[in-house]
Amino acid sequence: MSGFSDPLTTCKACNEIYRADHLIKHIVEVPDALSNQEIYKVICDNEVTCPECGGALSEIYEFNLMFKTNIGPGGKLQGYLRPETAQGMFINFQRLLRYFRDHLPFGAVQIGKSFRNEISPRQGVIRLREFTQAEAEIFIDPRNKTHPKFGEIKDLVLKLYSQAAQERGEPDTMTVGEAVERGVIAHQILGYYVARTYQFLMAVGVSSGSMRFRQHKSDEMAHYAADCWDAEVLLDRLGWIEIVGIADRTDYDLKAHMAQSKVSLKVMVPYDKPIKRQKLVVKPDFKALGPKFKAKSKAVGDALKALTPEDIRGDMIKVQLDGEQIEVDKSLVSFETAEEEIRGEEVVPHVIEPSFGIDRIIYTVLDHSFYEDAVDGEARSVLKFLPGVAPIEVAILPLMDRSELVAPARKILEDLRSRGIRTDYDTSGSIGRRYRRNDEVGTPYDVTVDYETLEKGTVTVRDRDSMRQIKVRVEDMVCTLEGLLSGAKKFEKAGVMVEIHPT
Ligand code: GLY
Repeated sequence: MSGFSDPLTTCKACNEIYRADHLIKHIVEVPDALSNQEIYKVICDNEVTCPECGGALSEIYEFNLMFKTNIGPGGKLQGYLRPETAQGMFINFQRLLRYFRDHLPFGAVQIGKSFRNEISPRQGVIRLREFTQAEAEIFIDPRNKTHPKFGEIKDLVLKLYSQAAQERGEPDTMTVGEAVERGVIAHQILGYYVARTYQFLMAVGVSSGSMRFRQHKSDEMAHYAADCWDAEVLLDRLGWIEIVGIADRTDYDLKAHMAQSKVSLKVMVPYDKPIKRQKLVVKPDFKALGPKFKAKSKAVGDALKALTPEDIRGDMIKVQLDGEQIEVDKSLVSFETAEEEIRGEEVVPHVIEPSFGIDRIIYTVLDHSFYEDAVDGEARSVLKFLPGVAPIEVAILPLMDRSELVAPARKILEDLRSRGIRTDYDTSGSIGRRYRRNDEVGTPYDVTVDYETLEKGTVTVRDRDSMRQIKVRVEDMVCTLEGLLSGAKKFEKAGVMVEIHPT
């Protein structure tokens, strides 16, 4: 594949067009890994036909996914909507390099819309023509693929579905350190971002048991990548879906931009200690140049000194002086050995790119968070959001909509909001109905203000997942909820447990 394109097939009977790889998903686990010829062979071998009319399917052809458009008045300039956010960061490479004071490594991140002319957008937000990406471009020195913080993540155990494991049909479970040591993951920097991706996905509520990292097969790799690992998740009814890609894009992009713009995007990487080297240099005979070139003799001599021994061919040497070509007899120069100090080396940085599909991650968090159970024979729907991603962290629920309960409830609401806690206030319906509503939208804690609040100065805090309740003193409540939401406090130990039937 040489760009952003999809493999298509057309029904020879009704002319309907299909993503060919999608038609064989039920036969091949990873159709993306097959070449167009291989996809067509699977279609023929398994007698896959047009889903609409049963007609025979054509051979596979490529379809460009980029949306073509015309730019500006008159529309004379042809342009494309970006198929990934990455390119903006490559265009700005020189500014970024200056911002990071000419030092590698450095990174840039961007979140925004990308556009692909998907042949069959479907499955809600899983395949969209306009979608949200968050991408990081980490520019590294290609000669150093170690990461200073690798020690922090090297013991993390991941499910890795390498190319070899895919041949066997069974992912390996190993630490990131082991994977890099055994060459399963190409190098520490790639391993580091695979691990950080895992930690991020866990932190937003993706279930680790339904997550794996799958290495792209060589013929599935994007045109720019040398190695690529996808974070894949298992979704209810949809199977394994890619939600993040972590690619080693090498110097593909910067070299491509250099070739088009004719601007050098190389970076001078200084050596720890300058290297001294002997080299052969041109030594002009200034005494002999004097009578021949008079006032210009110094300039001619300097121009000769700037040449390398390889530049001197034939009996006459040609140098340019203020636009004038001057010829010098070879007998007027000799060669000598001089010592030069080399302070560094110019490199074209390589790029490691974690690319997050935000819509798909949100869908996954919803899918992995949702469950149903029953309370007293009645169905309960729950989104077990982690506090960090719950739209509402705490719901304040006065037992009844009466002024003596509303006033302290509103005061609690203000106290929590002033601490930046996302809260909601709800008085409508029975308390049981309000608990159910908050379970359904994923609110981790409910605070009920009742007559004991007035009499004893306590509120009831209810935990969404266990449905258990504790009594907490009003003056301790902000601190208690902050501890519960951050994970610093355990629910059972954060107050006096109320021994009631969980509701
Ligand atoms: N930049 C990687 C991708 O868009 O898939």
